[in-house]
Amino acid sequence: MTLVPAKAGTVVSGVQLPEQAPMNAGNAGKQRAAHAALEYVEHGSILGVGTGSTVNHFIDALAKLRGSLRGAVSSSLASTARLEALGIEVMDLNHAGPLDLYVDGADEATRDRYLVKGGGAALTREKIVAAASKRFVCIIDDSKLVPILGRFPLPVEVIPMARSYVAREIVGRGGQPVWREQCVTDNGNQILDVHGLEILDPPSLERDLNQIAGIVTVGLFAQRPADLLVIGNEKGVTVVGP
Ligand code: 5RP
Repeated sequence: MTLVPAKAGTVVSGVQLPEQAPMNAGNAGKQRAAHAALEYVEHGSILGVGTGSTVNHFIDALAKLRGSLRGAVSSSLASTARLEALGIEVMDLNHAGPLDLYVDGADEATRDRYLVKGGGAALTREKIVAAASKRFVCIIDDSKLVPILGRFPLPVEVIPMARSYVAREIVGRGGQPVWREQCVTDNGNQILDVHGLEILDPPSLERDLNQIAGIVTVGLFAQRPADLLVIGNEKGVTVVGP
């Protein structure tokens, strides 16, 4: 089978969005959701921080709380650089212990708080920090809320030598994998973006894909979904929780 290279302009790990992106409805929603998430941050805590443009708004807003934070555990080199530029200490998860709170964005979310993540190629560290956190608050603009996951191609991080094998396994399951050719993850691995999926049972697909040798992480966050979805739009913020 042929793996189609990803189009130019695909998000590459470590690439920052422009500082001053034009403000559109999606951006306003991201910003509102990011600001609303500040209320979940506890004084004196070590905070888990995700990756992406929505999280960049959150990190910028964190500046005013920096004196009351013990530090942060970051899910990517890009977020680490942004946190450190604000004077927030970034700690190794091995030294931080269990975290109370993880704040991250998503590429798609359902009202059951199942997520597709990995558009920024940081899915593996994101899944680790989410797993190590008691509470996961996911911040999105309302364009990300969908009835069924799968319109956004599902990112899968693979060990480089396994890429074609994993792609064949995914084709056998009805997906169309596209190699994100210019992308090397922070862990030195590669990404397949799987198109053509209608994910009716996210926990079971996550479990199934996790069994394929060579897959490091599937960008489905279903076995450990978000605990709260904070959804922003131009008008305000809605919170979806259990
Ligand atoms: C990075 C992610 C991001 O959370 C996801 O891509 C959303 O990004 P943005 O906030 O820029 O829309 O999973 O790996």
